[in-house]
Amino acid sequence: MLDKFKRLIKSLRLESLKKSEDFFLKRIDKDKLPLHIAIIMDGNGRWAKKRGLPRIAGHKAGTETVRRIVKIAAELNIRYLTLYAFSIENWRRPKGEVSALMNLIEEMLDAEAKDLHKNNVKFIVIGRLNKLSESLQKSIRDVMAITKNNTGLTLVLAINYGGRTEIVDCVRQIADKVKQKKLEPSKINEDTIIKHLYLPEVPDPDILIRSGGEKRVSNFLLWEIAYSEFWITPVLWPDFKRSDFFQAVFDFQRRKRRFGGLEEW
Ligand code: FPP
Repeated sequence: MLDKFKRLIKSLRLESLKKSEDFFLKRIDKDKLPLHIAIIMDGNGRWAKKRGLPRIAGHKAGTETVRRIVKIAAELNIRYLTLYAFSIENWRRPKGEVSALMNLIEEMLDAEAKDLHKNNVKFIVIGRLNKLSESLQKSIRDVMAITKNNTGLTLVLAINYGGRTEIVDCVRQIADKVKQKKLEPSKINEDTIIKHLYLPEVPDPDILIRSGGEKRVSNFLLWEIAYSEFWITPVLWPDFKRSDFFQAVFDFQRRKRRFGGLEEW
């Protein structure tokens, strides 16, 4: 009976320890960090609803998490972080929510440009940018220009992005080259596709994190996540803490990756 009680206390202590930031951070192997982490930042609306607030308050709170996570990804020496900020499908939301989201992204870029640069972060964007407002496009161009020579974390923001659209854009470019007789159809292989994706030089994500508990890919990086490890948490994006990020990296380091073969990587 006493043993059972002791075991219960021990497991409760372990659970509360796990909630502390340092628990996972201390256990992360700094020599085996994932190169690229991609995140579907879901749950802003539910976070707001739980508090009786308008959905946009959830998105605003979500921007604080974005700040937090970019900072710790840079500190932890992660090379690439890709965040799904606005999908092609998100245009289906009410007009007010769409414009509020666009404004938040623009405000955040304008406010964070200096800090991103100071932290040696290189900023890039994927998606169909020509559909965005001229002023948002300008903010994007400005931050990309300021940070283009930085050598630390590369922060990729997916705005008006769709995985299928990326593949369509890729196929159009390849078809154009075939039409101009610059490319032989029989020579098209996986490398040809990769070279025509939005960011051919960026390695595929090692981990795909999804907050908010849904178990789907939502048209994110469809080609690139072929062998990514999924890490899903019920935690809503505004509540996503440093400890959640560290836990994702810690859990990833315990996964056995075989890329379809038998050997572990
Ligand atoms: C999904 O939550 C989240 C989004 C559609 C947008 C994510 C945007 C932010 C975190 C804020 C702005 C980002 C940047 C980079 C400045 P949801 O609305 O689908 O939530 P729900 O599933 O609870 O309804």
